[in-house]
Amino acid sequence: MSDASLWIFGYGSLVWRPAFAHRRAVPASIEGWARRFWQGSTDHRGLPDRPGRVVTLLPRAHPMLSRCPHPPEPCWGTAYEVEAAAADAVLAGLDHRERGGYARLEIEIRLTGHPPRTVPGLVYVATPENPEFLGPASPEAIARQIATARGPSGANPEYVFELARSLRAMAAPDGHVFEVEAALLRVLGEADGPRG
Ligand code: SIN
Repeated sequence: MSDASLWIFGYGSLVWRPAFAHRRAVPASIEGWARRFWQGSTDHRGLPDRPGRVVTLLPRAHPMLSRCPHPPEPCWGTAYEVEAAAADAVLAGLDHRERGGYARLEIEIRLTGHPPRTVPGLVYVATPENPEFLGPASPEAIARQIATARGPSGANPEYVFELARSLRAMAAPDGHVFEVEAALLRVLGEADGPRG
């Protein structure tokens, strides 16, 4: 690997749909952050009059997480290595894609491998101060909002199912994501009505 390459950590849609040129994609984790479906989406998975919900990260010590039922665990996702020559173009594209409240943060990324190693990189985080932030709600309420939301990037349930599927494929635990997925399956099952 060239020292000048750029590492980007994806933990939401960037896990399964990076849509930017990269040299390699590696399952990876970051410490001290919790992934939550607390960010509103009016430009990808919802609309201004009917926001969807997508994930953001909160520092583990954030007061909004004080009643969190899940044990602290690393946040798993995918780290992408981007060639130095492509970095500016990739970041310009991501800044545009993540413009709905996300800002770039520098972070230490732990890459899986033999042996695992840590690299500096970037992650897009939507803080509670951004205007699209929706904040905590029960898994049931989150699922009900997601069930009917749809935006230019597609249906909001697809975002949840693709993220959960990708985490499962890397054997990555995430109590919150799987709880929202389970609640969403219940809500969508109710909407389908009884079968048989
Ligand atoms: C990410 O995937 O890393 C950021 C949030 C998103 O685009 O869903």
